[in-house]
Order: sequence, then structure tokens, then C-alpha cells
Amino acid sequence: MSKELEPRLLARAREVVASNTGFRDTAISPSAVDRVVRAELARGRSEKELLEELRQPGTPLSKALLDAVLVGETYFFRHPEQFRFLASQAVPAVLRRRPLALHGWSAGCASGEEAYSIAACLLGCAPAGVRVEVLGTDLHEGRLELARRGLYGTWSRREAGPLLYPVYHDVGGGRVGILEHVRAVTRFAQGNLLEPLPEGFGSFEFIFCRNVLTYFSPDSVTRALGFLASALVPGGYILLGTVEVDHPPAGLVRVGPPELQAFRRPHPSDVAPTPPRVVPRPVPTPPPLPVRAPEPPPPPVVSPVMLHLEALHLIEGGDEPGAAKVLEKLQEKHQDYLPGLLELALLRERAGMREAAFALMRTVRDKAARLPPDQIIEGPEPLPARFYRASADAFLMMGAIE
Ligand SMILES: C[S@@+](CC[C@H](N)C(=O)[O-])C[C@H]1O[C@@H](n2cnc3c(N)ncnc32)[C@H](O)[C@@H]1O
Repeated sequence: MSKELEPRLLARAREVVASNTGFRDTAISPSAVDRVVRAELARGRSEKELLEELRQPGTPLSKALLDAVLVGETYFFRHPEQFRFLASQAVPAVLRRRPLALHGWSAGCASGEEAYSIAACLLGCAPAGVRVEVLGTDLHEGRLELARRGLYGTWSRREAGPLLYPVYHDVGGGRVGILEHVRAVTRFAQGNLLEPLPEGFGSFEFIFCRNVLTYFSPDSVTRALGFLASALVPGGYILLGTVEVDHPPAGLVRVGPPELQAFRRPHPSDVAPTPPRVVPRPVPTPPPLPVRAPEPPPPPVVSPVMLHLEALHLIEGGDEPGAAKVLEKLQEKHQDYLPGLLELALLRERAGMREAAFALMRTVRDKAARLPPDQIIEGPEPLPARFYRASADAFLMMGAIE
């Protein structure tokens, strides 16, 4: 029978794991802690020595404990519906305001499959000329080494949903390697979600933090979410794991159905600015005119962009059917207004009306293809015709892959 371990030592080891990772006690595997402590004792060390070492921060023993308890389960395009959302809605929405670069962060990236999937997805749907950069961070240095190597066995591909975008190629021996252009835009760094990301890493339009917070204590969830949210640009999106939070993180709003676990930092221009109050200037009273029937007022001129903005406000407020009605009206009146067609296609897709979404996307693609690629299309954000063509292509291609 194996020797009973000193309860104080085990309790201290668990405290060290909890304070370093944010894990709640029940998420720390007792057998993993037990194994590490026993391995140290088997090397001839005493329980007293181990207790002493656990009082110091960042020792080899605490690192061994972290390595043993951190679960690294991951695979390519895990939760594919979130990648579809990224490609069909989040990226087009961000590009309308920030058309030059897309920055993604896989927070708690394990061995890198998630970071590379984000990179492949962003590269797949970003129009030519848009820069893509993805950062993967994790506490586990060993897994980051695997991520940097970018070589994977069948295990990483085992449960993958549809391979939504090309991300790896066969390198023989049952292994795959990350495609060079995907690897070139992805980098990895060690980082603890309980601490703010160093400023040098900049901020992000898209943050994925999935299947990590599920192990955290409530206080650690709040702390980590605060740091994640502060790394998000206005108008940027954060995607969490399926059951990780039941309400939007502070300062963010939920986008899409609850099961999508997508949240967005509102953009200042989301709320239409209140027009300045015009104080009428006193004007001299004109001499009385002969009485005539008043002219009817001219009909108000509503531009397609104004209607589109009205629809966007309805979407933000959760009234997608209302937004669809406005966009249908917009389409009737301005059949060539590409931003409205694209928006309506995305709404149809979200409402489960796949065929209608595809028909609209084909129209977007065909109309955009007839324009010079660099022609700027007026919309809530002026964007070149090639943006609409590439977005429609990416959407249609996604349907073809599934
Ligand atoms: C189950 S994996 C999830 C990987 C990937 N996000 C996915 O959904 O497939 C969880 C990862 O979170 C990391 N992790 C746990 N606590 C962390 C913390 N406090 N800071 C940074 N990473 C942490 C673990 O090392 C592990 O690699």
C-alpha cells in the first residue's frame, strides 16, 4: 500500500496551483498533484523540503505541478460554428471600420491548433492587402514549443469539425505541418490570463478564450475576463467556450444566440450621435404676403447608407427581423447597394435561411465582379468592391466545404 502523504503538503501544493492558474480547487486533479509529489519523494527528497520549496514562487516543483494539472485538450477548428461566425459576421463587421489589418489572439492556446485555425480563417476571408496577425498564449511552456514547431499527428485532427480553411499539409509519416503562409502570421508567447497582456502585444479585433475559464474560480474568471476585454478594440469580438459564462463580461454586449458565446465591445459610433440643437436666430419679420395654399413639403431623401445604419442599429438592439425588413426595403429601392445585400445575406444565414443567404451572396459576388476591384463603395464604412467580392467568395466557399 502506498504511503499516506502529509495533508499539509498536498494542501499547500493545491494552493500553489490555484494561485498560479486561477483554477478552483475542484478543478485541480488530486491524482496529478499526488503523482508529482510522490515523484519528488521517490528522488529522495523529504516532505519538509518540498513544503519549503512550495513557499518560494516559480520553483521547479511549482512548474512541475502546473504542467501536471493543465489540461491541453484541443484540435483544429474546434467549435466550427464560432469560426463560421468569425468569417461571416465578425470579420466583415470589423473590416467595415478597420479595413487595414486583422489581429487575433488565442488566449490559452495549448499546442497551437486554435491559433492556427484563427489565422487560416482570417487569411481565408480577408481581402487582398489586409494584414493578418495572430498571437497564441498559454501558461504551459512545453505546449508552446509544440505550437511553434507546427507539426501535428492524427490526434490533433481526430475530432476536428469540417476543415473550414486550409491550415496544414501532409508531411509524411502520418503527420501534418502548418502551411507556411499560416505559420508566417502566427506567433506564440507565454502568458498568464490572471495578468494583463504586456502592452507590446497591442490590441485585438478577435479574441478566442475557450475551454480555459471553465476550470477557473469565479473570481479568477472575472479577473481574466477583465484583462481579455481590455485587450479588445472597440467593435472587437471575444469568443468564449460553450459553458464558460452566463452573462456578458463587463463592458461587452452579447452577439448572436447564447450558445454562440460571442461578445462584442461596442464601438462609439454604434450609437447615432445626437444632432446638435439648433438655436433659431431671430430673423426680421417679413412683410405679409398674399395668402396662398401651402406647398406640400418635399419627400425626405433617405440615402441607402442611412437605411443601412438604421438596420445596423436594429441588429445591435437584437431586433433582427426588424432589421431584415429595413434591408428588404433597401434592396427594393437600391438594387445595386452591395453593403445592404451583404448584410441581408448574413441576416438570412443567421435566421437559418441558407438558400436565400446563398442566393444573395451570389448576387453580391456577381455585382462586385462587374466593378473595378478598387472602386470604393459607399456604405457605413467606405470599402473597395474587391472587399465585397472576397467576402462573398469566402462565404460561398464555406458552404461548398461543409
Ligand atoms: C483545454 S486547453 C484549451 C485549448 C484551446 N483554447 C481550445 O479550446 O481548444 C486549456 C489551455 O489553457 C491553458 N491555461 C490554463 N490556465 C491558464 C492561465 N491561467 N493562463 C494561461 N493559460 C492557461 C492550459 O495550459 C491549456 O493549454
